[in-house]
Amino acid sequence: MSESPGPLSGSGFAYRNGALCAEGVALADIAAAVVTPFYCYSTAGLEGHYQAYAAAFADQRATICYAVKASSNLAIIGTFARLGAGADVVSEGELRRALAAGVPPQRIVFSGVGKTRAEMEFALETGIHQINVESVPELDALNAVAVAMNRRAPVMLRVNPDVDALTHAKISTGKSENKFGIDLAHIAGVARRAADMPGIEFAGLAVHIGSQLTDLAPFRLAFTKLAELVAALRADGIALSRLDLGGGLGIAYRDESPPPLADYAAMVKGIFGNLGVALALEPGRSLVGNAGVLVASAVAVKEGLTRRFLILDAAMNDLIRPTLYEAWHEIVPVIAGSREAVPVDVVGPVCETGDTFATQRMLPPIAVGELVAILSAGAYGAAMSSTYNSRPLVPEVLVRGSEYAVIRPRQSYAELLAQDRLPDWLDDPERV
Ligand code: LLP
Repeated sequence: MSESPGPLSGSGFAYRNGALCAEGVALADIAAAVVTPFYCYSTAGLEGHYQAYAAAFADQRATICYAVKASSNLAIIGTFARLGAGADVVSEGELRRALAAGVPPQRIVFSGVGKTRAEMEFALETGIHQINVESVPELDALNAVAVAMNRRAPVMLRVNPDVDALTHAKISTGKSENKFGIDLAHIAGVARRAADMPGIEFAGLAVHIGSQLTDLAPFRLAFTKLAELVAALRADGIALSRLDLGGGLGIAYRDESPPPLADYAAMVKGIFGNLGVALALEPGRSLVGNAGVLVASAVAVKEGLTRRFLILDAAMNDLIRPTLYEAWHEIVPVIAGSREAVPVDVVGPVCETGDTFATQRMLPPIAVGELVAILSAGAYGAAMSSTYNSRPLVPEVLVRGSEYAVIRPRQSYAELLAQDRLPDWLDDPERV
């Protein structure tokens, strides 16, 4: 595998004899069988990223709960589950996926700012390990649901530490103006209240300040506040046995250099090592981001008055990150060549100017029909895709060594249309 830093490093993807491969399989061979666009993941990449967390935290009492929202295919969750991972879920759908993929309920954490009573009830029925509560009304509702079921809900309170994660505004969650968590100043009162509730078993505190953090400083600030809070609560007679540290590190999409996991783990140990608490970590992006790519074909090359456009068969409905967050994804030809790079706008066929993967990107000239790979697409790619413009959901493929499996077939047009129902007044010829 490529050793240079960047999106290919440790991803499971590398060029062999000029052909981009996922482990032992050429992407061009998968494209010939599956047809573009499709997502492709490398098992070696997924496992390597998980093992890096497991190794970094081997000497701490920590459970790595894969944040299912990053990529929720059962085969991806199952790959981590087989290695002993837990899961962080944010909806009943994700909880059902984690269970179906073989994650034991004792290793599942339910996060999220707006759980419904039905979701709470379902979670409690499964015997879930932990529910992270984000407000007093949510605590009251969970208590009522648990009492009605004659259960006690294992609860962590999510703290809003008012820390700037120094990441994209749309994925920053730890400032007081963000909708997430309970303000740090209110935690003691809420914890006391939780400890007195018949349906609540108060276990500890959770924090998650944002995603794609490439600097340890905001983590250090938030975790230090959390450790101080633990000491203050204990001094106040409130017992707590565990902490949930939220999402993982950011990844290299381009030339970012996120800190080594060993440094992150050492920081965590330095701050919490003496508190005698069990830890949960909820990494998503860093487990799957660089272990997945989106493979597309060039549909057309259009020479505009001021721009050259490379029009792909993939679009914003398949991968929305560039449109939504102005995110940079590396785009590479699947078959490398020594052609001189020229600036090009890489776009999809959807009827919006926002359907742009890259603007004035330096790329070797790509011919119609040629394959390109959009890198670092494993996290928040397929999971955020939609059928906008009535484009069927694209296949997902998982490679392992020299074999591969389609882990989600392409949605057919029949399936796409079968989602809709005509009301009687349109369906009944008598009434039209
Ligand atoms: N835990 C909680 C409570 C979260 O809200 C998240 C992500 C994670 C864990 C996982 O964080 P990670 O390890 O992936 O940084 N769609 C956006 C990212 C949204 C992140 C939402 N929460 C994107 O494509 O950049």
